[in-house]
Amino acid sequence: MKLLVIGSGGREHAVVDALAQSSKVTKIFAAPGNGGMAEQAELVPIPADDVDGLATFALNQRIELTFVGPELPLSKGVVDVFRKHGLAVVGPVAGQARLESSKTFAKQFFKINNIPTAEFVECSTPVEAYGAIENGKYPIVVKADGLAAGKGVVIAESAAEARNAIQQFMEAKTLGPAGSKLIIEEFLQGEEASFHVFADGTEFQPVVAAQDHKRRFDGDKGPNTGGMGAYSTDTILSAQETEAVIDHIIKPTLEAAKSYSGILYAGLMLTPDGPKLLEYNARFGDPEAQVILSRLKTSLLDVLVDIVEHRLFSRKLQWRPGAAATVVLVASGYPAKVESGQEVFGLDEAKRIEGVKVYHAGTRFEGGKIFTAGGRVLNVTGRGATLAEALERAYFVAQMIEFEGKDYRRDIGKKGLAKQK
Ligand code: AMP
Ligand code: GLY
Repeated sequence: MKLLVIGSGGREHAVVDALAQSSKVTKIFAAPGNGGMAEQAELVPIPADDVDGLATFALNQRIELTFVGPELPLSKGVVDVFRKHGLAVVGPVAGQARLESSKTFAKQFFKINNIPTAEFVECSTPVEAYGAIENGKYPIVVKADGLAAGKGVVIAESAAEARNAIQQFMEAKTLGPAGSKLIIEEFLQGEEASFHVFADGTEFQPVVAAQDHKRRFDGDKGPNTGGMGAYSTDTILSAQETEAVIDHIIKPTLEAAKSYSGILYAGLMLTPDGPKLLEYNARFGDPEAQVILSRLKTSLLDVLVDIVEHRLFSRKLQWRPGAAATVVLVASGYPAKVESGQEVFGLDEAKRIEGVKVYHAGTRFEGGKIFTAGGRVLNVTGRGATLAEALERAYFVAQMIEFEGKDYRRDIGKKGLAKQK
């Protein structure tokens, strides 16, 4: 089969790597891809959100199946356009990707369908928003409606901070149109978890749970990032919590969002009153995909074909027991502006270490060498019989790889280890 993977991050490298394991695959294209994928895929210089350009490419190359990694092309209707041309593609249509691309749409959807979530008010004007934080309980959460690459949520500790967030989003328009509507919501206490399902429009199959580490520094300090690491074990959610998520969150969602197809990712808060839904994403998490796919024993290609052929009901997903953990190596300065173009050393040695895969996120391949090309550079992913072993392997290789300005968090999976004790 000839495949196309849309995107250029560590998530998409993990997808390319998983697909490349299947003997049914004859060729993989990645658009635009990155330096690490170049070993298994041919890179195509079409931006991930050039929906029409991607469709033309897929038609000309007779691509048999396309996987969409990031949210932007989904929200721009890449699936709608591919389907119109009769191209097989994994992902939700734009109308359903609104569960991610519009927080006001999503929160209304949760409310109508009785899905447990934080109490909220929707605000369309600054006057409404300033009114909504009067007599609020702090911390309070201020969220921009539209896609904002992780920059649209402020946990305000005081009324002054909340007012500042409203001023920035709605009046100074720092996020452009994404901030023209806001959600003001209750702060939920608890541990976060990422719960994904594969859905084929009728049936769904749950995926092993994962936990992300969004803050830049150890101890969950510092600014939010695209993700500094993740792990997956079977102990992130209890059996009771898993059942609650499926019965009260996933099932009502897929009953209401009829024919939702692709990957649905529930961002959960595990509160003392049970799991509550913070948000939906219409795609795999990044870096969650890296740990989840490391544990998927079933061929990813077979699962994706089941999705487009609506036969997921017949599939029993097989998972590797134990754990996987990924440590994100970032360039100094991340998440603010970083300098790219540093040569990366140690990747060949890393390939020889058992139980570890190094997925590339921001790299470029040139003249037989790999250079940094972004803030999040590499995702060192270890697998093991236990979380401790997976972490040990990932950190061993994280130390081995060198590039100028390399940094990473030293406490990935720490909460998971504590929970197991
Ligand atoms: P979101 O984009 O909705 O996932 O929000 C980004 C991050 O903000 C989440 O991963 C949480 O860490 C935090 N967050 C969002 N909403 C809440 C909430 N209601 N209570 C506590 N933390 C929240
Ligand atoms: N890891 C968080 C996200 O992909 O949105």
